[in-house]
Formats: sequence, C-alpha cells, structure tokens
Amino acid sequence: MANGIRFIAAALCGWMLAGGNVPARAEGNVQRGAALFEQCAACHSVERSRHMTGPSLAGVFGRKAGAAEGFLRYSDPLKRSGLLWNEQSLDRWLKDPQALVPGNGMAFRGVADHRARADLVAYLKAVSEGKEAPVSRGGMGMMAQGAKANLKQAAQDNLVTAIRYCGDTYRAITASGKTVAFWEFNLRFKTDSSAEGPDRGKPVLLPAGMMGDRAIVVFAGPEEMATFIKRQCD
Ligand code: HEC
Repeated sequence: MANGIRFIAAALCGWMLAGGNVPARAEGNVQRGAALFEQCAACHSVERSRHMTGPSLAGVFGRKAGAAEGFLRYSDPLKRSGLLWNEQSLDRWLKDPQALVPGNGMAFRGVADHRARADLVAYLKAVSEGKEAPVSRGGMGMMAQGAKANLKQAAQDNLVTAIRYCGDTYRAITASGKTVAFWEFNLRFKTDSSAEGPDRGKPVLLPAGMMGDRAIVVFAGPEEMATFIKRQCD
C-alpha cells in the first residue's frame, strides 16, 4: 500500500518535472524545442535562405510544403503533397515522415515522443514568427555540416595552387609551398557556391577525419577541377 502511494507520488513528481499540467493538446516548450532541434541541425538551419541537406526552416510555419525559396532538392512527392505546415501537419510529419508523404526525401526516422514533437513544433513556430533567435551555430549538430568556416579566408597552408595525379596518388601543392600526398581514395572533391565558399581559382584543402590521412578539396565550381587536377609524375 505504502509502496503504491510512493509509486504514485514518484510518477506525479516526474510528470510535474516533465512540464506540469498537460493540457488537452500539449503546448510545446520553445526552449526544449530549441535543444531538440540539435537532431535536425545537421540538415536544417533556421536562418533564412541557408539551405543545407534540407531546406531552411525559417518561416516554415504557415508555408506550403516544398516551397522554401531557393531550395533546389525537394522531392516530387513533397512538392505535390498539397500540405500546409501547421501544428497538425508538422506533428504528423515529425512523427513519421514516410507515412505522411510516402517517397519523400528526408532521411529521418521520426520522433516517437509526442511531447518532444510538440516542443519542436513550438520552436519552429517561434522561429517562423521571429520570436526566437536561431539556435547558436556551432552546436553539435551544426558542426557536422552547418558551421562551415569562411573559405575565402583560408590560411596559406590550406589554399591549393595545383593538384597532381600520378599512379594512385594525388599531390596537392599549397600556397605556403607545401606538397601533401594522398592515396586517391582518401581525397574528396567538393564545390561550395555559397557566400562562404572559396574564391574562384582558389580551392581550399580541408582535413577530414581523425587520422590526418583524409582531406577534401573545395572548389568554387566544378569546372575548376579540370584545370587544377593534372596527370603528372615528377
Ligand atoms: C538527414 C537530413 C535531415 C534530418 C536529420 C532532418 N531533415 Fe527535415 N528534411 C530533410 C530533407 C532532405 C527535406 C526535403 C524532403 C523532400 O523534399 O522530400 C526535409 C524536409 C523537412 C520539412 C519540410 C520543409 C518544407 O519546406 O516543406 C520539415 C518541416 C522538416 N524537414 C523538419 C525537420 C525537423 C524538425 C527535423 C528534426 C527533428 C528534421 N527535419 C530532420 C532532411 C533532414
């Protein structure tokens, strides 16, 4: 009996800690939503026009699905869904994106907990209404892709002046005069056309991975790859 009461008291306590009186439709908590957004931030920013893997979610609340200006990678199913983003549709999307819009392109399983979804929706709403500052850059999620350094300000050690390809090896020559060799399978080539991307003709070498054997060369555009990478053994 005493155990039962203690159990109820503990449950009640946990429930109050979790946010107190739960109204019929759970009101989300913006602060908690901002913290939960970490799991989205590898793919989404809430800064206007800052598109990443996924579209910017600035102004998503009240917008038609698949309609963020300047985002070029929407799937056809999402564009054709006819959805308008509000509390209900966002809740269903975040619960199980593939159930709501089969064949959409968001590689994300969903958020099972209804309170967490309510918090996320509250955060997206606050951000859309300009009430909440975008989450600080440099959070764990953002580090994956979002918080890119400004490559126009790369150090001489990172600026690439030439790349030679011989056998199975790339040799990158930097503006500081260093030559760095990579096994061909460990060097990746990317482009960055954003404002933080490299200047034209000035690709940037960035370390990748923990071991120091992998790197990425970022070009201003794909046409530069052909001029920079030369088959040459010396
Ligand atoms: C792995 C990357 C990834 C993650 C993680 C991710 N998303 Fe997405 N999201 C996308 C992509 C890509 C799309 C576009 C999907 C399409 O076009 O079918 C999208 C679309 C959306 C849309 C529709 C936007 C519009 O303009 O119609 C919303 C809302 C959204 N995501 C919210 C979230 C939230 C909130 C989270 C975190 C709980 C999240 N996403 C996690 C990649 C991701």
